[in-house]
Amino acid sequence: MELEKAIKSRKSVKKFLNEKPDWRDILEAIDAVRYAPMAGNCFNLKFIVVDVLEKIEKIALACQQDFVSQARYLVVVTSDPKILVNCYGEKEGKRYNKQQAGAAIENFLLKITESGLSTCWVGYFAEEQIKRCLKIPDNVDVEAVFPIGYEFGKPLTKKMKIELDAVLRFNDYKTKKMNPEKKINV
Ligand SMILES: Cc1cc2nc3c(=O)[nH]c(=O)nc-3n(C[C@H](O)[C@H](O)[C@H](O)COP(=O)(O)O)c2cc1C
Repeated sequence: MELEKAIKSRKSVKKFLNEKPDWRDILEAIDAVRYAPMAGNCFNLKFIVVDVLEKIEKIALACQQDFVSQARYLVVVTSDPKILVNCYGEKEGKRYNKQQAGAAIENFLLKITESGLSTCWVGYFAEEQIKRCLKIPDNVDVEAVFPIGYEFGKPLTKKMKIELDAVLRFNDYKTKKMNPEKKINV
């Protein structure tokens, strides 16, 4: 699949077929995260593949979102901010930690889309419950949960996306035109 097609067709899916995905597609998507930019080239993320039903159910409860339990695989993303905080200080280290998790996750999402699988980024969860379930150390953050499956039923159409005009600015926060005409004071 072309990059543009993967970018434009990625969408959040919350209804999955009961069919178990080919785990190799999930591993390929995780392989792609290694190529994301990392501050100081410090890779501090883990992508945990979960296929034990009991754990999937516990994690779905921790997310308080039923659709999570429908998936036959979950991928739980964690980050260890310590190295980045040590290198760059508290403020920047924490910022870089979130930014590079997002960069890696987008690679993952695009590869999931390319392989014909679907998911939804789940960012709302009781972190401690997930940590306990997956034996994640105290100092490690849970970034997101991704239920993975094949989309159920008629594919959802993409949501309306924000217009480019609302995103793009030139030279300062407010200017929407590339070469604003100079105002002449009369
Ligand atoms: C940081 C983050 C957290 C999110 N958390 C949730 C969540 O807990 N539950 C959910 O259903 N969707 C969640 N989403 C998915 C968004 O609702 C979804 O991406 C948005 O509505 C745009 O739709 P699209 O992904 O189909 O383009 C999250 C997305 C992001 C980026």
